[in-house]
Amino acid sequence: MTKPTALPTPGDPPRIPFNRPTLAGNELEYMRRAVEGGHTAAAGPFTRRVASLLSEAHEAADVILTTSCTDALEMSALLLDRRPGDTVVVPSFTFVSTALAFAREGFRLVFADIEPVHLGLDAAHVASLLDEHTRAVVAVHYGGIAVDLPGLATALGDRPIDLLEDNAHGLFATCGGRLLGTFGRLATLSFHETKNFTCGEGGALLLNRAADVDRAHILLHKGTNRRAFMLGEVDKYSWQDLGSSFGLSEINAAFLLAQLEAREAILTRRRQVFESYDRLLRPEAAAHGLTLPDVPAGDLPGYHLYYVLLPDRPTRDRVLAAMRAAGVMATFHYVPLHSAPGGRRFAARPTDCPVTEEVSGRLLRLPFYNTLGPAEVERSAEALLAACRRSPA
Ligand SMILES: Cc1ncc(COP(=O)(O)O)c(C=O)c1O
Repeated sequence: MTKPTALPTPGDPPRIPFNRPTLAGNELEYMRRAVEGGHTAAAGPFTRRVASLLSEAHEAADVILTTSCTDALEMSALLLDRRPGDTVVVPSFTFVSTALAFAREGFRLVFADIEPVHLGLDAAHVASLLDEHTRAVVAVHYGGIAVDLPGLATALGDRPIDLLEDNAHGLFATCGGRLLGTFGRLATLSFHETKNFTCGEGGALLLNRAADVDRAHILLHKGTNRRAFMLGEVDKYSWQDLGSSFGLSEINAAFLLAQLEAREAILTRRRQVFESYDRLLRPEAAAHGLTLPDVPAGDLPGYHLYYVLLPDRPTRDRVLAAMRAAGVMATFHYVPLHSAPGGRRFAARPTDCPVTEEVSGRLLRLPFYNTLGPAEVERSAEALLAACRRSPA
């Protein structure tokens, strides 16, 4: 999605990439152990350790490691067991997978707008979109800051509609003292290289209802009851249901375990990056018409990204180009889904998402990764402010 930029000339300061994968400590050693242990496919000891770490943290009924958050969303769609005419409400301001996974399973999509403060689902808009066909609402905690969970609970009331959480950004973030990912029937995580905790490509499905566990394992094992066989519950396994090859390999799970064991150090480092950007930018934000992220008092955000909203799209585009020319690889984010060709094709009906349109055109994300040092944070913030000064609000 990002355009190639001009090659640096000698004497330029080194580029600050948008993201850089980093080792937290034991990744390579654990991968070596996985290989030497003779089990590198899915469902081995490292997978079990990661799943139980996540399961205990979330007090989930079970956790399934998948090859991506996209796969975990596809498993969620399968677990909903679609009936003819069913629809799913998804934000327009999200990554394609949040919507694609449900479209692929035959659901028609209803795109909801976001509210302008935390960029999560607008609960009032969601309430206006619900009807007898709505099967689920998928909430995205943008940047690891909780959506309006009380507002969504009110909107859903006691209707038979499931809340699902796409928590790709917010592992270990909290709302009202409770971990994100524990509010929905199902929640998904991403361990893609751009996320806080990574293994190249990876994801997880949190099962918050015991009733989903058996079927989820059948979907995971290519539609077979292989798990029941492994547990000695049946004497042979056979094809039972839909499914796919969703499981994360042990090599990735080994890498991921090392990252998750270092979670406190990683989150502390990312909090420092987030807070440094905030401290450097807040004093000049009003003068340049910048809106900075708002963290609700008492909540712990995921510290996944740091964004600014510029006054309008032309200013955002000019500032982005100037920063990239200065070697600071800032970037934009989601392109609205409701107006994209795929969104229009799979929508149950057209909906208006004006906040999504506006925010998408004004948003800029700053470089953000675990080893981003104070000098690089300062240079990135200064590149943004310098570009704003040349492009007055
Ligand atoms: C909100 C959200 N959901 C899902 C995904 C897809 O994650 P993955 O690459 O692990 O499939 C992303 C990717 O960035 C995302 O931002």
